[in-house]
Order: sequence, then C-alpha cells, then structure tokens
Amino acid sequence: MTPLATRILDRIQRSGPLPFDEFMRLALYDETHGYYSSGRAQIGRGGDFYTSVSVGRVFGRLLARQFAEMWDRLGRPGDFTIVEEGADRGDFACDVLEGMQDDSPECFGSLRYLIVEPSAALRHAQLAKLGELAPTVEIVNSRDELPAFSGVHFSNELIDAFPVVRVQWTGKQWLEQCVSSDGEAFCFVSAPLRPDAALRSILSKVPEPVQPGHVAEVNLETVKWLREISGHLRRGWVFAFDYGHTRAEFFDPARRNGTLSAYSQHQRQEDPLQRPGEVDLTAHVEFTSLAEAAESLGLRLCGFTDQHHAMVGLGKLHFEDATSLDAAQQRDLRGFQTLMHPGLMGRAFKAICFSRGVEDEKPLAAFAYARDSRAVLGLTCPSAE
Ligand SMILES: C[S@@+](CC[C@H](N)C(=O)[O-])C[C@H]1O[C@@H](n2cnc3c(N)ncnc32)[C@H](O)[C@@H]1O
Repeated sequence: MTPLATRILDRIQRSGPLPFDEFMRLALYDETHGYYSSGRAQIGRGGDFYTSVSVGRVFGRLLARQFAEMWDRLGRPGDFTIVEEGADRGDFACDVLEGMQDDSPECFGSLRYLIVEPSAALRHAQLAKLGELAPTVEIVNSRDELPAFSGVHFSNELIDAFPVVRVQWTGKQWLEQCVSSDGEAFCFVSAPLRPDAALRSILSKVPEPVQPGHVAEVNLETVKWLREISGHLRRGWVFAFDYGHTRAEFFDPARRNGTLSAYSQHQRQEDPLQRPGEVDLTAHVEFTSLAEAAESLGLRLCGFTDQHHAMVGLGKLHFEDATSLDAAQQRDLRGFQTLMHPGLMGRAFKAICFSRGVEDEKPLAAFAYARDSRAVLGLTCPSAE
C-alpha cells in the first residue's frame, strides 16, 4: 500500500465511502503524496504520458504567434497579460517566451507572464527551468491572487486533471460512485447523488436514451474555474487545449464505461483506484457543458475545433514565411506533424476559446479552419454577447 492509500483507507474506515472527486483530489493534489503536488509526475518520453508541450518547443512557439495575434487584436496594449495554469515544470512558458522574443519582439516588450501554481514543488521546478527568463515571469499560488488582466488565460491539459464526480445510470436515476474498500483493495460503491444544482443540471441534459449501467464523469470543478477566471478577465480570451468530446459524443453508448483513466509509464492501468499518488488520473472533457458554463458567465464562444484544424491555422502563421529551415526548425516541423496528425494528437485533442470585450469578426488563426463551433457543440441558445 502506498502511504496515501493507507491514509485514504483510514478515512474510509472512520467516515465511510469517499466521493470519487475527493479520492482524485487526494491522489493528485495531496501536498505530500499527491501525484502532481509532490512533483512526482513525469511527462514525456521517460515519464507516464505525453502532452503537446512535451513533443517539443514547437507547440509553445505556435501559441506565441497566436498570443501575438491576440495582442494585435486588442490594439497592441502596453500591458498584455498571459496567465498560464497547469504549467507543470515551466516548459511551455519557456517555449512561448523564447518564441516571442524571436518572432514577435514588440509583443514580448508589452508582456506580463503569470503562472498560477499551487504546488511548492512545481513552483521551484518552474523557476529552475526558466533560468534567465525567470525575472520575466510571476508565479502566484492561486487564482485568487490574480490581478484584473487584459490578455489571455491559457491551459493545456489542465481541465482533464481536475477531480471529477463519477456517476452511474441505473435505468431510473443517476447514482454517485464513491470509493470504499472490500478489505483487500479499493472498490466503487453506489451512493445517492449529492444535492448539487450544477451536477443535476448537467445530468438533466444527457441525451436519451442512456443504457442502464452507463458510467460517466462530471467535471464540476470547471464551473468554479471559469467563474474565478472570468472574475479577473477584463478583456481578452480564455483558451484551452484538452482531449474530450461534445456532449453527444461523451454520452455515446460506446463510452458506457466512462472516460476515467490511470496512466503509469505510458501504460493505461486496469484499475484507476490502485496506487493513488503514484499514477496519473484523468477524465476526458465534456466541452458542451463547459461552453454552456462559460456563456452563463457572459463569456462568448469564439472557437471550438480539433487540434488538427487548430494546427493548420497556427502552422500557417508560423511556417509560411520560412524559406529554408535550420536544424531546430526542421525538428519543429516534425513536432508539428505529431501535433496535427489525426492518428497521433490531431483528432483526440480539441481547442476551445472564449472571449470577453473583443471584436471577433475574423476568427483567430487557431480557428480559421474550424467548422461552425456552436453547431458542432450542439449549443442551442444564442451567444451571451
Ligand atoms: C496533464 S498535466 C499538463 C501539464 C502541462 N500543461 C503540459 O501540457 O505538459 C496537468 C497539470 O495541471 C496542473 N493543475 C491541476 N489543477 C491545477 C490548479 N488548480 N492550478 C494549477 N495547476 C493545476 C497539475 O499540477 C499538472 O501540472
């Protein structure tokens, strides 16, 4: 048993089954033993899983171009802020800052780069990675400490790491799946749904029919997350990349076992409840509910597409002028092909963006090749702005 498993077991023996989001919060974010907060998580070739950031510097360099375009759309202000959340060891921040210094120096001169990082171990790793760039970056412990800002809030694979509520349809009602112990190992047990209005509202929109036994995850944390960001965003965008689906795809019978997964050393683990704190836990994002939550806060959906199409738009900004590629740019091009390849990262990952107080008549480069985002997401109400 891991030290964290022993603590969780004690808690279950004292207080009864643990809601799954609580289990996931401890497994990932317990300050001493959590997979992320302890600094144990390893991303990339020698770690547990790949992300677009770990493919190489190209993802950050492409996004640096997108951020410069946003700065331009805002009228080239002297105080343009990028807030990054889920910055892990600071690789994306480095790639963006270096890319912007090379390709968009004027924007770099107006830039304030803020990282939101609750983990002390990761704050330390970020400063070490940033090296000479560290003085250009501010790190705050939580969203509460953010100033009011104009610019962009950016995240890559943050939302899929938020603790989720796990539910199961009995044929008559949704029940919560909580974590208990059978004496040997952790196991799921059913419990009545908690009295939470946001949870009930999301479940009331699940497309019928749902087969008895269907399991799904509900990410209530995104509602709180959007509310907190939206409270600080004066003008600009909330821009997130992550893997996931529209509501119709998310609740498709093909996903009747849900999307919760555990990863260790690039292998999907059979039982997500074993070895808490030592494996990554993640659930796919349901983008339609995310967009509805954003619109209810007065944010405007300005694009939703898969990473393949987003990369075609961003690649046009980045590679179009290049007449000949040096060795680093050739590596960038190979990374770019991985990011956009439909069989690798192009189809599973999606980009979604919301705006406030900006003129969006022309789509941002990342959404230049997107289809009608509202229709794809199945959004019915007109946009809030
Ligand atoms: C799957 S990793 C992605 C890391 C990085 N963005 C990348 O693409 O390689 C998820 C990251 O989100 C971070 N995270 C989760 N919840 C967070 C929160 N509330 N505030 C800041 N970071 C958070 C985790 O610590 C972890 O570094």
